[in-house]
Amino acid sequence: HGTSQINKQGHLEIGGVNTVDLANKYGTPLFVYDVALIRERAIQFQEAFKSENVPFQVAYASKAFSCMAMFQLADELGLSLDVVSGGELYTAIEAGFPMERVHFHGNNKSLAELEMAVEAGIGCIVVDNFYELSELSRICKEREHTMDILLRITPGVEAHTHEYISTGQEDSKFGFDLISGQVHEAVQLAHNDAFLKLLGVHSHIGSQIFETTGFVMAVEKMFELIMEWKERFHFTPTVLNLGGGFGIRYIEGDTPLPVGDYVIKMIEVVKAKAADLNLEMPEIWIEPGRSLVGDAGTTLYSIGSHKHIPNVRDYLSVDGGMSDNLRPALYQAEYEGVLANRANDEATETFSIAGKCCESGDMLIWDLPLPKANHEDILAVFCTGAYGYAMANNYNRIPRPAVVFVEDGEAFEVIKRERYEDLIRLDLPLAKKVVK
Ligand code: LLP
Repeated sequence: HGTSQINKQGHLEIGGVNTVDLANKYGTPLFVYDVALIRERAIQFQEAFKSENVPFQVAYASKAFSCMAMFQLADELGLSLDVVSGGELYTAIEAGFPMERVHFHGNNKSLAELEMAVEAGIGCIVVDNFYELSELSRICKEREHTMDILLRITPGVEAHTHEYISTGQEDSKFGFDLISGQVHEAVQLAHNDAFLKLLGVHSHIGSQIFETTGFVMAVEKMFELIMEWKERFHFTPTVLNLGGGFGIRYIEGDTPLPVGDYVIKMIEVVKAKAADLNLEMPEIWIEPGRSLVGDAGTTLYSIGSHKHIPNVRDYLSVDGGMSDNLRPALYQAEYEGVLANRANDEATETFSIAGKCCESGDMLIWDLPLPKANHEDILAVFCTGAYGYAMANNYNRIPRPAVVFVEDGEAFEVIKRERYEDLIRLDLPLAKKVVK
């Protein structure tokens, strides 16, 4: 997929760059991002909105993968940016990302984070709860700063892969629920606040969703609310933010729609509802994370030890694992992979790919068909671009990998590999001599 192909030597190439050369130059594990694919996805989202002639913002949910270069690329692509912490906001500021296109999310933004966001002059805060609403109101009033906000609602639509369940009873830490009337109280408070400008509402129903049904249900719920607000408070939202969650294909059995199709479906429903109820067409915002960067990322590992248990299984261990990809251990997520240095060789064996962390659960892929492989080989695991590096950690004091962007035959390092010195950078020596 993307710009991946196999060259004459039988090596996997991404963005016109030989991945074996990348592994030699930058070491392994290594995250390689196909920049052309990220561009393509961003354009597909944006074109879908343009084709329907609807005002929009596509905000990159930066939790999927954030670093300064990624934020600069997002800026170049005309994306807005969804941040969920002071750390992501700080990275955006340092990257020179235009603050008016930054949206701030989170169910427990600290006062320091809210102040930072207001002072940075970000475009919009997605307010999650009453505490935040009153504190943000105070912070803005003190500074006489008017802030655009959305209110996050829990639409009572829970979306899972391949399915959705409509939960009559919301049980989520995020947002204002619809059942108790809280959402109406929040709208009234926000709408009447002198320094908060309530633009509209936000809903995010889940992640790695393949079907459009959940999004349609969320839109329907929103319009029920909108009618109520119109009557009760004479407030009509001008922005509907429908969140992210568009699924990607990790393994052959995954069946996402082309990203534009989700957008077109949402727009159709919003248009129909707005026409039905005689409302002006609102702006539509979305927040894709995974679908912008997920399949653009590939992780290269060096293969190390091989354990053969007769009649049971062959384990091949790689030089990373749950330290750079928590998803298999956390969510039983599945991946596919090939030997980057022998991508054309026939898969005659079945190997289970183990990480190097001291946990039996540190398995990256079970039962992967591969050629006969050993410690001279490089394994490429696909679709690791979202929530891979972002959730990487130093478990077992394993340094985080490096990250490179590739495009048009060139590679750019965007995050350096951690060194052992980095691991102890914040450590302080034992202050007192231990008395025996
Ligand atoms: N907007 C909101 C409010 C969200 O909470 C999320 C993801 C997104 C947008 C982006 O969703 P996406 O388009 O990436 O599905 N670590 C998990 C995924 C957690 C998603 C959290 N929220 C994983 O690796 O599957």
